[in-house]
Amino acid sequence: MNSFTGQHILSVNQFDREAVEKVFSVADNMTPYAARHKRTTVLEGAILGNLFFEPSTRTRVSFGTAFNLLGGEVRETTGMSNSALAKGESLYDTARVLSGYSDVIAMRHPDIGSVAEFAQGSRVPVINGGDGANEHPTQALLDLYTIAKERQSFGQPIDGLHIAMIGDLKFGRTVHSLATMLSLFSNIKFTLVSPKDLGMPSKVCDVITSAGHELVISDNFEGLSEADICYQTRIQEERFESQEMANQYRGKFRLNQKIYTQHFKSQTVIMHPLPRDSRAEANELDNDLNIHPNLAIFRQTDNGVLVRMALFALILGVAHKVQDFDRAVHWYTNKHQN
Ligand code: NCD
Repeated sequence: MNSFTGQHILSVNQFDREAVEKVFSVADNMTPYAARHKRTTVLEGAILGNLFFEPSTRTRVSFGTAFNLLGGEVRETTGMSNSALAKGESLYDTARVLSGYSDVIAMRHPDIGSVAEFAQGSRVPVINGGDGANEHPTQALLDLYTIAKERQSFGQPIDGLHIAMIGDLKFGRTVHSLATMLSLFSNIKFTLVSPKDLGMPSKVCDVITSAGHELVISDNFEGLSEADICYQTRIQEERFESQEMANQYRGKFRLNQKIYTQHFKSQTVIMHPLPRDSRAEANELDNDLNIHPNLAIFRQTDNGVLVRMALFALILGVAHKVQDFDRAVHWYTNKHQN
């Protein structure tokens, strides 16, 4: 991808390493705005259409927050039943209409390929906020940005990383997108831990191996003592044919203080795209790790705002102008102080 301006962001396959690093450097510049040390009005007058046809908390709100932090306005549609899709309107028609009301659109939808289909009807850039079990490119960017920051704190680059991805790797779109994007880097070791029936799709495994990375497939926590990142995931119960089918996998790969200490080195960073399923029968990431310094889950969610601000600024062609529209912050703020 040579230029982001006016582009849809539909898949991680659009990115090369240079494009990823470009997003990261713009994201770094967004830090003072996200921390409310100052604000910018560079997108004053611009409108984000935020369309979420599947449940979402952090992705939806962080897209909206990112746009607001750049000075823009947000119009939201949430839930299939609240939109004309429920009356049989096509994605194409919805896209033609809503793109007339927006400068950029972020969209999540339960069907694989739906956001790309929507983009064909859109007159403005569309960002994929998750299309069914397929992809979640902006989550991959924020996960990788977090990995880069965590590694930097140990004086190490992304290259040479050993990552363990754990849980529902079949339906979990975040791991599909993250594994593909990580494959752009050098000498990555992937250990993929899942129940046999919930393994990483072969399409993604092929990307890993054809880029020359090491791939280990496992159904248990052995062999993870050198992993730099432990990336936990939720069983994607909404993608199973029945609740009973999902239930058989719940709680299979729990991580808590005891299991962490037993299987991982003391520097292993713990990540999760969230939401974690905190019900007792699942609980794949226990609250007893909440104050562990290596728990990066809320650094991930904070970084989501920076990365989404960067994408909006790049797509709308204002990344180099953000500071020209600086304003002071007048209210009390202690954001991002621990
Ligand atoms: C993920 C998703 O929606 O794919 N959440 C997110 O966007 N941070 C993961 C999940 O729902 O388990």
